Amino acid sequence: MNIRWHMDRDPGGDLSEGLLPVEVLEGQRYRHAGRHRQWQHGRFLSKSLLCHEAQFLGLQTTKPEQIRIQRMSAGWPQAQNAEGRPLPISLSISHCGDWAVSAACAQSAGHVGVDLERVESRSQHFIGDYFTEGEQGLLGPLAESDFDTRVTAIWSIKEAVLKALGTGLADPATSVEVLTLPQAHKDNWKKAQVQLTGAPNPKVRWRLVEDDLVLVLAQLPVGSWCMPSA
Ligand SMILES: CC(C)(COP(=O)(O)OP(=O)(O)OC[C@H]1O[C@@H](n2cnc3c(N)ncnc32)[C@H](O)[C@@H]1OP(=O)(O)O)[C@@H](O)C(=O)NCCC(=O)NCCS
Repeated sequence: MNIRWHMDRDPGGDLSEGLLPVEVLEGQRYRHAGRHRQWQHGRFLSKSLLCHEAQFLGLQTTKPEQIRIQRMSAGWPQAQNAEGRPLPISLSISHCGDWAVSAACAQSAGHVGVDLERVESRSQHFIGDYFTEGEQGLLGPLAESDFDTRVTAIWSIKEAVLKALGTGLADPATSVEVLTLPQAHKDNWKKAQVQLTGAPNPKVRWRLVEDDLVLVLAQLPVGSWCMPSA
């Protein structure tokens, strides 16, 4: 998949080091202290990822203050140089409580989407509203011990793919359909087959981390479609 990713738990302390004044201003949109901290953690982690993986990603940049991560109006993060020129990479961020994950690939490799979700019980209404009939068939009996994990994985795959597309949940969740969901174990990637309405099929991998978190990486090939700016 040619994707690099970093995941960590909020280390505490000051995470504003390396943020540009324009980013500090942008962060003020998050008025809830917990969400602001998540946003700051995501920026900190993403800049660290881009600096550590600069060579792999084909970037000259090796210092956090040389990178700006701008929130585009559709919500997706665009990596730019300090002057605001887009860097030739695709970047995606996800938060779950005090965990964050950031993933990036060279623009020539496609568009990346990452999602992190805690395994939890979701209602039959939720499944009926957001899962196709085929996906409901992948879940198996409600009594099975991994039922909640499978529901969480399918949901997380949808979010990761819609992030790679740049629309998020502004597009219907059913526009992403999971066709196969091989059982993943802790720290062991599995490929899921996924189809997407109106765009080429994404490559998708999922795994369990830290016992109760589902991590998904999705990648869409470079194509004639483009990320929405609005
Ligand atoms: C993008 C979305 C799927 C994120 O899901 P989530 O599980 O709530 O949150 P996550 O922590 O996994 O992801 C949040 C990150 O997604 C990224 N993101 C937001 N909108 C995005 C988009 N349209 N495309 C790609 N990435 C997006 C951001 O980097 C954000 O983190 P940041 O603000 O700290 O930079 C969801 O919030 C969304 O679709 N928002 C758009 C608004 C909308 O239409 N809502 C309808 C609700 S039914």
